[in-house]
Amino acid sequence: MAGSPRPRPGILEISPYVGGEAKIAGVARVIRLASNESALGPSPRAIAAYKAMAGEMFRYPDGHSTALREALGRHHGLDPARIVCGAGSDELIGLLIRAYAGPGDEVLYSRHGFLMYPIGALAVGAKPVAAPETAFSADVDALLAHVTPKTRLVFIANPNNPTGTYLSRDDMQRLHAGLPSSVVLVIDAAYAEFVQRNDYEPGIELVDAAENVVMARTFSKIYALAGLRLGWAYCPPAIADVLNRIRGPFNVSIPAQAAGIAALEDVASLDRAREHNEIWRPWLERELARLGLALTPGVANFVLVHFPPGPRDAAAAFRFLQSRAILTRRVAGYHLPEHLRITVGTEEEMRAVAAAMAEFMAGA
Ligand SMILES: Cc1ncc(COP(=O)(O)O)c(C=O)c1O
Repeated sequence: MAGSPRPRPGILEISPYVGGEAKIAGVARVIRLASNESALGPSPRAIAAYKAMAGEMFRYPDGHSTALREALGRHHGLDPARIVCGAGSDELIGLLIRAYAGPGDEVLYSRHGFLMYPIGALAVGAKPVAAPETAFSADVDALLAHVTPKTRLVFIANPNNPTGTYLSRDDMQRLHAGLPSSVVLVIDAAYAEFVQRNDYEPGIELVDAAENVVMARTFSKIYALAGLRLGWAYCPPAIADVLNRIRGPFNVSIPAQAAGIAALEDVASLDRAREHNEIWRPWLERELARLGLALTPGVANFVLVHFPPGPRDAAAAFRFLQSRAILTRRVAGYHLPEHLRITVGTEEEMRAVAAAMAEFMAGA
C-alpha cells in the first residue's frame, strides 16, 4: 500500500519531554538549577569505580546487574531477586506501562504528576487520565474516583516532581486499599532519600504486603549519577519476572553498575547530601518567602515558587534569572504556568539565586 509510514495511534499526540536547560549561549559559567541534580556531585568512590571500569568497556555488562542488586538488597534489606535495574527509572516506568497497558487501557496519575507517566501511556496507545490535586498534592479520593474498569496502572511520584509534595504512609495505604488488585500501583520514590518526615514511607512496606505494588528508585538524584542512567524497581516476584522478560538484555552499563555499588557504600556522602539539602532548601524557602513569594511546601531537593500575574510573573523571573546566568525550570508543561521550579544547589548557588530574586522583585 502506498503512503508514508505512520506511527501507532497516540504517538503523535506526545509532546516530547523537554529536560531542564543546561546552557546559555555565550555564558561560560552557568548556575544549573533546572534538573534537580544533586548539589554536591557524586561520591568520589563512585567516580573512582567508574574510572576503574574504563578498560572493560569492550565487554558486555552483567545483564542481571547481579552485584548491584545484591548491594541494593544489603543496603535496603530487600530480596535482590525482586529488584530489577534499569537505565534510569525512566526506563522502568516505560517498561511497566508497556507490560501492563495497551490500546483502550487507562493509566492514572495526578494532575501535576511527573510527565513520563502520560508520555509512557500515549506511547503504548493507552489513555493518560489525570486526577485533580488538592493544594498541589495528589488527592487519594480524587484518584480513586477516577479508577474505571479500564485502569491498568496508577502512578504516584512520592514526593512528586515538580510540586515537591508527598503522600503519607497512611494516605498511600488508603490509595492502595481502594484499588482493584488487578491495577498496578507504581510508587515512584525518586526523591525518597531527601524526605525527613516521620509519616513518610517510600513504598517498601506496600510492595512487601501486596502483589500489585512496585517502588521505583533512582541514582540520579541524591546519589548524583544522573548522567550514568541508573534506576531500580522493587517488585512483587511476578512483576519482576515480567520486567526481566521485556527489558533490554544489557540495559545497565558496566560503569553504571560499578558506580552504583560504590555510591551505595559511601554512606557518608549520602548523609552529607541529605544534611546539605535540609539546610539549604529551608534557607531558600525563607529567602523567597521574605520577598513575598508563595511557595508550595516541598520535601525534596527543589522548591516550587508561585509568581503573581503581571510584570513579575514566572516567565519574567525565568528570563531575569537567565540574564544572571541562573537556569531554573519553567513548569508550564505540568499545568503550572505561573510557577518556577528551583533545584537546591551549592551554598554559593543558593546565595546567588536569592540575591538575583531580591533584585528581580525590587523591580531591577
Ligand atoms: C519523579 C521522577 N521520577 C523519575 C525520574 C527519572 O529519573 P531517572 O533519571 O532515574 O530516569 C525523575 C527525574 O526527574 C523524577 O523527577
